[in-house]
Amino acid sequence: MNLILLGAPGAGKGTQGEIIRERLDIPAISTGVMLREAIKAGTQLGMQAKAIIDQGGLVPDEVVNGIVKERLAQDDCKNGFILDGFPRTLPQAQALDAMGVEIHKVLYIQVPDQIIEERLGNRRVCEGCGATYHLINQPSSAGDLCERCGGRLAVRKDDKPETIRERLATYHQLTEPLVDYYRGQGKLCEIDGSTTIEASTEATLRVLEEQG
Ligand code: AP5
Ligand code: MG
Repeated sequence: MNLILLGAPGAGKGTQGEIIRERLDIPAISTGVMLREAIKAGTQLGMQAKAIIDQGGLVPDEVVNGIVKERLAQDDCKNGFILDGFPRTLPQAQALDAMGVEIHKVLYIQVPDQIIEERLGNRRVCEGCGATYHLINQPSSAGDLCERCGGRLAVRKDDKPETIRERLATYHQLTEPLVDYYRGQGKLCEIDGSTTIEASTEATLRVLEEQG
């Protein structure tokens, strides 16, 4: 199954993507994760992306389209994949269609803006393996350290209140039009992501079991 996870910053795309990845044994491909890895590695792409990400804007379409095209051509995507955070603009969605990639379902995780600020303010990310936690909703059993690898937990650089507001504005302006785009293609599956992680997972799995 070829899936897209669509939703605002902090909607839970990464959290649900990880769960679906394990269940379906298909790769979860997050453009955000790939860009942060490029920043960490100090590549040319990383240097180009850093200032944009820190300000809450979007990396140019042609750059992201190229990364995704290359990634989807890899062998592990043959039996399906989950795209997290791509496409994020209409030109990106059109580029994906032009790649000849068939998408089966678009999981649209809906969360009101008021909840987003609290979620991202309390998110902590492992500096080692990138695992995601939440101080209240999903705490690490190892306290300030990652329960998987023992790495230090930190606040993501773009989770500052002013950057969160900028990311939300970018989302409403450039990404939300994709809701109608995929509804028009009959692929949109709406998921209430506003309550708990468990309830979002149940709703996500229900949608995946539905035919068509
Ligand atoms: P990206 O990394 O994709 O960030 P984002 O879209 O802003 O989304 P987040 O990763 O912040 O949130 P999420 O939905 O994954 O939520 P999570 O599961 O962590 O992109 C970063 C940047 O890279 C972009 O701003 C842009 O600059 C650039 N970029 C990336 N892709 C691009 C593209 N295609 N084109 C151009 N530029 C691109 O959950 C959040 C928190 O809430 C966690 O702490 C979690 O534990 C908790 N939580 C999750 N679900 C629930 C729930 N149901 N109830 C309670 N708590 C929950
Ligand atoms: Mg994420």
